[in-house]
Amino acid sequence: MALPRVVVGITGASGMPYALDLLEALQGLAEVHLVLSQGAKRVLWEEMGLSPKDLYPLAHRVYKDADLGAPIASGSFPTRGMVVVPCSATTLAKVAWGLADTLLTRAAYVHLKEKRPLILVPRETPLPLPTLRAMVALAEAGAVVMPASPGFYHRPKEIKDLLGFLTQRILDHLGLPAHRAPRWGET
Ligand SMILES: Cc1cc2nc3c(=O)[nH]c(=O)nc-3n(C[C@H](O)[C@H](O)[C@H](O)COP(=O)(O)O)c2cc1C
Repeated sequence: MALPRVVVGITGASGMPYALDLLEALQGLAEVHLVLSQGAKRVLWEEMGLSPKDLYPLAHRVYKDADLGAPIASGSFPTRGMVVVPCSATTLAKVAWGLADTLLTRAAYVHLKEKRPLILVPRETPLPLPTLRAMVALAEAGAVVMPASPGFYHRPKEIKDLLGFLTQRILDHLGLPAHRAPRWGET
C-alpha cells in the first residue's frame, strides 16, 4: 500500500534537530516531500554543520524553494498534511497573511485552502505582538500552531527525549503512529 505523502518544510528558525528528528521518524511511515527555505540553509549549517544535501536521503523528493511549479504547489497533488519545522517568525507571518511567493509558503497556502493538516512549529521567544497576531490568524484559518516547547513530565534525560516529545505530537496531528516518548497516563 502506498505511504501517505507528507510535506516537510524547514525554515530559518533555531531548532534544526527537531526537523531531523521528524524526518527520521517519518522513514517508513510516509513519503516525504521536502523543501528548505533560504534561511533554513544558514541555520542548518550553524546548528548542525549540515548542508541540505545531507538531508536528501531522508526524503522521497526534495524541491528548490524557488520551484513554484513543483507538484506540492498544487492542491490537486494529494497529501496527508504539511509540517513546517522549525518555523521562523517570517514564514509564520507570510503563511498567516496568505503570502505564497516561495514553494514552501505556497505549499502551506495550498494546505490551508484544501483544509488539510498544516502544522507550524515556531521557535522564538519572547513573542512580539505581530507574531502573536499571526498565530491567531493561523488558528482561525485551521492551522495547528505547535510551538517548539516540549514538556518535562516524561522526565527527559537527553536531548533526544525532548525531540521525541515534540515529534510525537506532530505525528499525532498527522494521524501517523508514534511511539517516541512516554505518554501521560500510560505505563
Ligand atoms: C543562527 C540563526 C538563528 C535564528 N533563529 C531564529 C529563530 O529561532 N526564530 C526565528 O523566527 N528566526 C530566527 N532566525 C532568523 C531567520 O532565519 C530570518 O528571519 C529569516 O529571514 C527567515 O526566513 P525563512 O522563513 O524564509 O527561513 C535565525 C537566524 C539565524 C542566522
